[in-house]
Order: sequence, then structure tokens, then C-alpha cells
Amino acid sequence: MPATIIVGAQWGDEGKGKATDLLADTTDLVVRYQGGNNAGHTVIVGDDVFKLHLIPSGILYPHVTPVIADGVVIDPKVLIEELEGLEARGLDPFARIKVSGNAHLIMPYHRELDMLIERRLGKAKLGTTKRGIGPAYADKAARVGLRFQDLFDEKILRQKLEAVLVHKNEQLSKIYNRLPMSPDEIAEEYLRYADRLRPLHADTTDLIHTSLEAGKHIILEGAQGTLLDLDHGTYPFVTSSNPVAGGALTGAGVGPRHIDRVIGITKAYVTRVGAGPFPTELFDEVGERMTDVGGEYGTTTGRRRRVGWFDAVLARYANRVNGLTDIFLTKLDVLSEFEALQVATAYRYEGEEYRHFPPHQSIFHHAEPVYEEVPGWGRDISDVEHYDDLPQAARDYVDFLEEQSGVPVTWVSVGPKRSQTLVRRDVPLVPTA
Ligand code: GDP
Ligand code: IMO
Ligand code: MG
Repeated sequence: MPATIIVGAQWGDEGKGKATDLLADTTDLVVRYQGGNNAGHTVIVGDDVFKLHLIPSGILYPHVTPVIADGVVIDPKVLIEELEGLEARGLDPFARIKVSGNAHLIMPYHRELDMLIERRLGKAKLGTTKRGIGPAYADKAARVGLRFQDLFDEKILRQKLEAVLVHKNEQLSKIYNRLPMSPDEIAEEYLRYADRLRPLHADTTDLIHTSLEAGKHIILEGAQGTLLDLDHGTYPFVTSSNPVAGGALTGAGVGPRHIDRVIGITKAYVTRVGAGPFPTELFDEVGERMTDVGGEYGTTTGRRRRVGWFDAVLARYANRVNGLTDIFLTKLDVLSEFEALQVATAYRYEGEEYRHFPPHQSIFHHAEPVYEEVPGWGRDISDVEHYDDLPQAARDYVDFLEEQSGVPVTWVSVGPKRSQTLVRRDVPLVPTA
């Protein structure tokens, strides 16, 4: 059976956690393929709210094996805290989750450098989550990173730490005037984590491919979103990994022929947390209401998210760079608040109109959205159970987004719970016999 990629189609926080959890109902493996604990995925089951950072959103079904694949960066301390948190709530994550030995580790100097680099940038800072993500991926690319498997080989762990700390300590002390870090102290700390994490270490490549060969269904779950992609996002205001669908292939070690669906999780409006350009951003009371009604505060850092109208230029771009087969549209209920809705169908810059993502950063930074106004529906829709029972104006809005983005909208979410999901096109991931 083929695999499905779930990707954020905007700047993150689109509702990937909710969508992955819902769709994992019929899947066997849920594989996180990139990012680290910069992610915050909220999953609500009944009255229970789970905020997941590293652990794949399939964890809440006993039949799912959650996998943390090669492309992820892992802060072992955070992983243990998250595992223990789930254990305290009656789950058995230590026995179920499988982690690739090739995943890189976030080290204390990565967290420290993330903080120091941001501080030094001052006003020009990116607004990172300060979790050490950028420095950890930079070390991976520079081939001086430590990997999950190194935790289980004390000699190698100590050797690699000694070598890398020569450079890191020069950086910390000479550039940033900080105290150097001790390789022995870090080794002791990480060896303690190793004791806890040993049962999770697995050959995830073999697991994924044995599952595919056995006809099982796999979801590849992304973190962050298309516009935060290191290569295809709004660089430098991006994260340091590849959330796009291509990143799922490299991050999980799966070839393209295994993929049959690429689902773009898309909010019915747009949010962004951290710095960087955002053409449809709202600074008025409409934006204030959108933030408040949408509960737009970061799951990981608690920061207030910036909000704006739906941007079809970004949706078309997400379609292109991910090859989307479906949109899972979230938070439509939040727009019930507004009498009229705006959708950016193009940008204008120096007399020219852009229907597609502009090729140069300066154009995007100064792009004026070209809006089309559509009517709101004027009533709460969060208790609607069937798509056809949505008000006509809400269905027209979804039709308009579909036409503008060029991607079929398959699911429409009208609230954070599993049950608040409307199926618009009946094309299940795993065909029922
Ligand atoms: P992720 O990072 O993409 O998984 O998204 P987050 O969990 O960071 O943010 C999405 C937020 O919206 C979470 O608090 C979800 O519970 C919530 N949410 C998801 N879908 C809906 C929806 O359709 N309506 C409303 N009102 N909230 C939703
Ligand atoms: P989920 O998976 C929203 C943003 C940060 C910052 C930029 C770089 O929950 O959608 P980093 O710490 O990654 O180096 O920060 O990326 N960012 C996110 N924004 N959702 C996320 O994850 C994010 N992960 C990182 O705010 O602007
Ligand atoms: Mg999030």
C-alpha cells in the first residue's frame, strides 16, 4: 500500500497535528521526517489535549507505530520529558516509539548558540524557537553532528564531543564571552539519557520498508510548513530543514514511487510566528479578533501568532513545490466571526501583477495583496456534522479557495476535535474493502 505525506502548506501551525491524528485512524505507521521540538502539534481526543513536539501525532492510537526518522533533530532531554508526560497519562510510549539511529542530536551548545545568535542579531533576529534547531542542522551539514546512535557507544560519544567542543568552546568564549562547556559533563548527562532511550533505538529504514512491502499504510508527518522550508521558504526567515514533500522522502528514506497522496494542511486564513514578510498580515481589529477567536498563540513558545487573510498565491506555490493531491482545510469556524472575507488572489508590485510566488525576495517583501471580497456566513458552524449542512456562503468560500489554489479540498475542519471534521470528497487514504 502506498504512503501519504502530510505537509504544512503555509508558515506552520496549520493543524497538522489534528489532521495527522484524524487520518492515522486507518494507518499503521506515522513517521515524523524533519524538524525537532520547534514543532508544537496539538491533538485533542475527547476532553484530553495533547501537545506534541517530537512524538508523531499517531501516538494516540494503539495500533499505530510512531517513528522518528533520520531527518529529525532530537533533544534527548525533551524527548524523555515528552515520553514521561505521555506515560503519566496512561500511554506506553517507551515501548511503542521507534527512533532512527541516524537522527541528529541537539546538544546544549546548540541551544546556547541559538540564543546567543538571536541576541546578537538584535532587531534583525529571526524569532527562532531557541530550541537549538538551526545550530544542530548546521552541524549536521558541516559533518560534525552527533547522532542518536552515538548515545549508545560511549567511546564514540566522548571522542566526538571532545573534537567538536574544541571549536564550540572557542566560539562560545571568544565570540560570545561565555564559559566553555565540559565534554565530560555533557557526556555524563547524555549517557544518562541513553539509558532511558535505548529501547526506542531501531532500524527505522527496515521497519518502514518492511511495512510498505507487507502492504501496510504509512503517513509521513511534516513539521513547520512550506514557507518555512530552508530551500523553498521565505529565506532567511525559515527553519533549517525541509518541511516540503521532498523532505519527507529524504527525511524518511522513501522513494517517490511509494507516495500516492500529498495532503497540504491549510488554514482558512494565514498565521505566522516569528519574523519575516507576510503580505496579507492584518494589523487592525479584524486581526485582533482573528487571533483571539482562533486562539492563535504558539503551542511551543506561547508567542502571539501574526494573522492575515487567506493568500491564494501562497496556496498555489505550496501546490507547486509539494505536488499536492488534497487540501485539508482547517479553522473555517474561526471565520464565522466576519461579515465579509478577503482572499488575496495575486500581488501587485511596481505596476506588475503576480499570480505566482515572486522570484525575488524584494518583490515578496513589498508585495501588495490584490483582494477579492467574498461574503461571510454569519453563524457558528462548529457543530455542523455534514459538509452539505454548511451555510451556502461557507461552501462558496471553500469552492473559491479550491478554484484559486488549484487543489481539491477533501476535508474541512470546523473545530479542534476529531469529530469536528467534514468530509467534502469521499476519497479515503486507505480504501475500505
Ligand atoms: P500544527 O503545528 O500544524 O499541528 O498546529 P498547532 O497545533 O500548532 O495549531 C493549530 C491549533 O488550532 C491547535 O490549537 C488546534 O487544536 C487548533 N485547531 C485545529 N483545527 C482546528 C479547527 O478546525 N478549528 C479550530 N477552532 N481550531 C483548530
Ligand atoms: P509546527 O510544526 C510555526 C518558526 C519560528 C521562526 C522560524 C525559525 O508547530 O507548525 P527555528 O526554531 O525552527 O529555527 O525557528 O521558524 N517555526 C515555526 N512556526 N510552527 C512551527 O512548527 C515552527 N517551527 C519553527 O517561529 O520564525
Ligand atoms: Mg504548531
